[in-house]
Amino acid sequence: MNLLLSEKLNAIADGLADKGYAIIDNFLSPEEVKAIIELGYFSKGFNDFKKAGIGQRDEKQINEAIRGDFIKWIDRHTAPDEIMVYLHRLNELISFVHENLFISLKDYEVHLTMYPPGSYYKRHLDQFKKDDHRRLSVICYLNENWKAEEGGQLRIYEETNQIDVLPEAGRLVCFRSDMLEHEVLPASRARLSLTGWILDQYADLKHLS
Ligand code: OGA
Ligand code: MN
Repeated sequence: MNLLLSEKLNAIADGLADKGYAIIDNFLSPEEVKAIIELGYFSKGFNDFKKAGIGQRDEKQINEAIRGDFIKWIDRHTAPDEIMVYLHRLNELISFVHENLFISLKDYEVHLTMYPPGSYYKRHLDQFKKDDHRRLSVICYLNENWKAEEGGQLRIYEETNQIDVLPEAGRLVCFRSDMLEHEVLPASRARLSLTGWILDQYADLKHLS
């Protein structure tokens, strides 16, 4: 079923209010995902990616045992149209959630992400200890024809149970950054996404690295 954007935003707001998370398919259409992949960031442009760290600024560390992904921050001033489509949609999500859930949201930060086969991100919370401006975590997957046996689930920990989400192309997962612990399980193929956070203050891109 292909919902209208307004229906998707409603479903996201409802999920956030009820459970602290929401999973929405077709946030990006198959064509929109394909257009992003065809920009070539994950292939010929992959040199621009860097190993993701843990912690922020001076405390940033790279720790392979905790997370194994590679990232490239997106600069909205130079982003190609194919990625702007996604950023505009995120802006609509921000306005909708801001108006309907009364969560103060001001801005976002987004990176392209690639987990090489076998890599993972251990159970964690997305808010940094000294900087809790990340209010919502938003991930949109870019993996066409992902199969369950390829692994790579996002595992979200609720109080009494856990939910596994396959990283299928176009699927958006949105959750409260301060509340929900989660992890990324290893996959047998490269796992691609647009990973972002919605902030309650303006993003300071100078500090993102
Ligand atoms: C993260 C993260 C989840 C995913 O980047 O902090 O938890 O499914 N990503 O990629
Ligand atoms: Mn996370």
